[in-house]
Amino acid sequence: MSDKNVLAILGSPHPNGMTSAMLNQAIRKAKQLGYDVTKINLYEKKLSFCTGCRACMNTHRCVQNDDIQEIVSLLHHCQIVILAAPVYWANVPAPVKNLFDRLLGTVMEETKQFLKPRMRGKKYMILTSCNTPVPFSWLLGQSSRAIRNMDQFFKTAGMKKIGSVVCANAKNKKTLSKHTVKKIDRRLK
Ligand SMILES: Cc1cc2nc3c(=O)[nH]c(=O)nc-3n(C[C@H](O)[C@H](O)[C@H](O)COP(=O)(O)O)c2cc1C
Repeated sequence: MSDKNVLAILGSPHPNGMTSAMLNQAIRKAKQLGYDVTKINLYEKKLSFCTGCRACMNTHRCVQNDDIQEIVSLLHHCQIVILAAPVYWANVPAPVKNLFDRLLGTVMEETKQFLKPRMRGKKYMILTSCNTPVPFSWLLGQSSRAIRNMDQFFKTAGMKKIGSVVCANAKNKKTLSKHTVKKIDRRLK
């Protein structure tokens, strides 16, 4: 593997939806910039629920042997994570939340007083879509809360934000607007 690896995660159940279109655009741009991109579809992965056993705090990896093992390896080998997830109840869809839960001890450790990040040096980008139109998507805390929750995971992991892009009013759109495409491309530059 090269030292220019992107892990692109689709956290939407719709491979032909708006969130997926955003991720595909980011992948196109990353490839143009010379990155090797590995794309995974979370809805195709076998991921049991986090049981809250916290063994991962010592093992750095979840002790359940399912597709989380592959995702942890991909995470260790990439420099950039691009997470694309639609807004569900002003938050992320359940499989995305479960991924965060399953990665607890992979991305952080607990010292006596502080949380210590385990993913320093990596970067992340967030792509999200919602049905609420602008500016209400932001003012009513729809996309903003979902992004805040995703930020919480990545920031705790010690990762640096490249940026986030929202596609609001998604139900009335069939394709990405030029504006959204530009925003995605610009963030990755
Ligand atoms: C269970 C569920 C909850 C949703 N909650 C919200 C919400 O809180 N705010 C909002 O603006 N849209 C909400 N939506 C609409 C989705 O954000 C919208 O369908 C999504 O952007 C489409 O992305 P996709 O094309 O990847 O499926 C929800 C949709 C579902 C299925």
